[in-house]
Amino acid sequence: MNIRCAKPEDLMNMQHCNLLCLPENYQMKYYFYHGLTWPQVSYVAEDDKGNIVGYVLAKMEEPEPGEESTHGHITSLAVKRSYRRLGLAQKLMNQASKAMVECFNAQYVSLHVRKSNRAALNLYTNSLGFKILEIEPKYYADGEDAYSMRRDLSELAVSPAAAEQPPAETAEEREAMMNEMHERWVTSYRDHGMGGAGGGHRGHCC
Ligand SMILES: CC(C)(COP(=O)(O)OP(=O)(O)OC[C@H]1O[C@@H](n2cnc3c(N)ncnc32)[C@H](O)[C@@H]1OP(=O)(O)O)[C@@H](O)C(=O)NCCC(=O)NCCS
Repeated sequence: MNIRCAKPEDLMNMQHCNLLCLPENYQMKYYFYHGLTWPQVSYVAEDDKGNIVGYVLAKMEEPEPGEESTHGHITSLAVKRSYRRLGLAQKLMNQASKAMVECFNAQYVSLHVRKSNRAALNLYTNSLGFKILEIEPKYYADGEDAYSMRRDLSELAVSPAAAEQPPAETAEEREAMMNEMHERWVTSYRDHGMGGAGGGHRGHCC
């Protein structure tokens, strides 16, 4: 099993995994919106043959009033049934959270989860340290309430000792990598014939 950053060519398989696992589904342009805007924070789990068996789709949010910096948000997380209880969701979530801190200096990550989703609630509270912030009544299209949850990411912030280490690559190299990644997303977006400002999703996240 391998956990790596999501690429444009993974999107169909991520959408397939989402359709298999969750009632909250999204148009392809919503996946592109995530990849084009925040290519660093969505991850996939692949098996030894390169098949996508799980994903986390994530984004960054504007700071809330009174907050100084941006925070991350998990739009969707799923692992195919026969690959569950192997620690993949935990790893996907940790990788996405680390990228939110390293790339965007995120202070916390938020998400919504159905009140009835025991597996996900256990994962978030017991394994990942999320706390329930509030209940959002009738958040989901079928009328179910959601827990709005948050995980403080300060423990993932780069320690002063680590910050003194020479970076693995220069700022120019990092920017070149980011530009290349962005270019791949843009090319793929065009190849899929998606016009317009690709965002607008009014449904609910997982
Ligand atoms: C929720 C989900 C993503 C968990 O994926 P996973 O890869 O099996 O999770 P992990 O193996 O990383 O589990 C880590 C911990 O979460 C908890 N957990 C995971 N699945 C659980 C289950 N079915 N019952 C109870 N606890 C569970 C356990 O504490 C587990 O640790 P343990 O295996 O050492 O006991 C997966 O069940 C899934 O895809 N469900 C359908 C989609 C979904 O609900 N997504 C979340 C929407 S908010």
